[in-house]
Amino acid sequence: MIKLENLTKQFAQKNGQPFNAVDNINLNVPEGEMCVLLGPSGCGKTTTLKMINRLIAPTGGNILINGKNTNELDTVTLRRNIGYVIQQIGLFPNMTIEENITVVPRMLGWEKARCKERASELMSMVALDPNKFLHRYPREMSGGQQQRIGVIRALAADPPVLLMDEPFGAVDPINREAIQNEFLEMQRQLKKTVMLVSHDIDEALKLGDRIAVFRQGKIVQCASPDELLAKPANEFIGSFVGQDRTLKRLLLVQAGDVTGQQPTVTARESTSLPEAFSIMDDNDMRSITVVDDEGKPLGFVKRRETRGATGVCADVLHPFRVTGRAEDNLRIVLSKLYEHNMVWMPITDEDGRYSGEISQDYIADYLSSGRTRRVLNIHQP
Ligand SMILES: Nc1ncnc2c1ncn2[C@@H]1O[C@H](COP(=O)(O)OP(=O)(O)OP(=O)(O)O)[C@@H](O)[C@H]1O
Ligand SMILES: [Mg+2]
Repeated sequence: MIKLENLTKQFAQKNGQPFNAVDNINLNVPEGEMCVLLGPSGCGKTTTLKMINRLIAPTGGNILINGKNTNELDTVTLRRNIGYVIQQIGLFPNMTIEENITVVPRMLGWEKARCKERASELMSMVALDPNKFLHRYPREMSGGQQQRIGVIRALAADPPVLLMDEPFGAVDPINREAIQNEFLEMQRQLKKTVMLVSHDIDEALKLGDRIAVFRQGKIVQCASPDELLAKPANEFIGSFVGQDRTLKRLLLVQAGDVTGQQPTVTARESTSLPEAFSIMDDNDMRSITVVDDEGKPLGFVKRRETRGATGVCADVLHPFRVTGRAEDNLRIVLSKLYEHNMVWMPITDEDGRYSGEISQDYIADYLSSGRTRRVLNIHQP
């Protein structure tokens, strides 16, 4: 959907020497995905966005949106297809909120009533009362409210592509978290193709399907969040993602990713104890999970309690005190395990059926194995 090919921007410095603010970058953002441009101040993030939006002309390279070179598109088509959230909010101070939101729709010649309706609809999406705010000026709103307007303004004409330059940068951490969550919820429904600039690793990990790390105008690594944490390409990225990078992965990896590697042998309440024993013996298991008719976990039976015993599993069943779900992240899983001082617990799928177990050992194995959640195939042509 967005494709950058050998994109370069050269500026002349005061001393007359040219310098590449953006230096021959290649990047591909598939439709419906969010790509975060991450890097320190001055590394060329804003310059890249401005070139995509044709606010500044590239010195070299190509920008393709849906396969079309943007230098062949007229301004109206460009504005209709690309929404832009400016760094530091950038609302027009002399326009009302309604006028701010409808800048692009008005440019596209929408009728007044339609503009107003659209503005109201967008305000409601970010939990702001249109009757209260549409006629105010930006200075009459809080920083967080203005930031929300900056985001919905970019969505006004429903463009498929969204460029966002530190869209949540100008607010306090609490507001920031709330707006990030709102935006993630919106993006789940809208499925825009997004390029978002950030210099905050945690924001990048939270929002990005992929993260392109910039340094001095170059992309030094482009990877999925989990890949970036598991395999930072060099020391610069390693220091950027932080020494606690493995703990940060706890939020990104799901229980299902870890249990996926494990066998799921189960018994039923009616399974005889000799049979349960031989299953555990054959599979080198210390206990076995007992499931009901629908495959939902009921509890477990210990091998040493079945050795030489008669009867059925129901007789010696230990009910589970805690279970996890496949979509729970490892942070939740570990928290539950620690809370109940358990070494392992069963994991269920979305229908509540047993889909494997997770243990502190499995988690440690996974995190140290070099496996990652999702590997991007970014080198494809
Ligand atoms: N019009 C210009 N003329 C000359 N140099 C420029 C111009 N615009 C940007 N630069 C330089 O290009 C480099 C990249 O700037 P850019 O604004 O893209 O950085 P950034 O990654 O967005 O940084 P920040 O995180 O601080 O917003 C910087 O060194 C900047 O000083
Ligand atoms: Mg910038």
